[in-house]
Amino acid sequence: MRIDIITIFPEMFEGPFSESIIKRARGKGLVEIQLHNLRDYATDTHKKVDDYAFSGGAGMVMMIEPIDRCISTLKQQRSYDEIIYLSPDGNILTQAVSNELSLLQNLILLCGRYKGVDERVREHLITKEISIGDYVLSGGELAAAVLTDSIIRLLPGVLGDETSALSDSFQDGLIAPPVYTRPRIYKGWEVPEILLSGDEKKIAEWKHHQSISRTKARRPNLDPD
Ligand code: ADE
Repeated sequence: MRIDIITIFPEMFEGPFSESIIKRARGKGLVEIQLHNLRDYATDTHKKVDDYAFSGGAGMVMMIEPIDRCISTLKQQRSYDEIIYLSPDGNILTQAVSNELSLLQNLILLCGRYKGVDERVREHLITKEISIGDYVLSGGELAAAVLTDSIIRLLPGVLGDETSALSDSFQDGLIAPPVYTRPRIYKGWEVPEILLSGDEKKIAEWKHHQSISRTKARRPNLDPD
């Protein structure tokens, strides 16, 4: 898979993309992530990418021309399955959305700043709009990093068997059961006896029951029945 990210703050991705699972996935060649600084596609000497909104109102708007030039340049090199704009008014990101996106080959993620992008970008250049939740971030960069992480961990070969994404919360519409490790008793707080029993069938039943009761209590909207 290849993910091209268009942003005016490429440095914001350095930390999240150079540690842990994403670092390993990139190292193994399972995903290629390219960052594109939108200012490189500005047409004036000041590298201007935003301007005042027509009719006034607070805040700057990201201009269409640098964005169009950047996307056009990328499209000359390959075709893209989706061109995604990260925005608080997009469709809410869920595990199902990440699962679908993880099956694609080439994605562009466009990170907005200021008061958003010129609406014509959304009308003519963008194929999907995603929000990571009903709250407003200072820009799309952190949202793009979240989306990228959630997709990459689903790519075949990225996670080992022991951390398989199949046992993640939400993957079966349920929250994952609780987990424990040594010591068996800490300050008198004990690990549930069943997990030490060695009875695989009973343990599987217990975990499933825990998943269902937790989902009902914590995410009633997922409706395990
Ligand atoms: N940009 C600003 N806030 C955002 C959000 N919640 N999701 C995606 N992009 C955003």
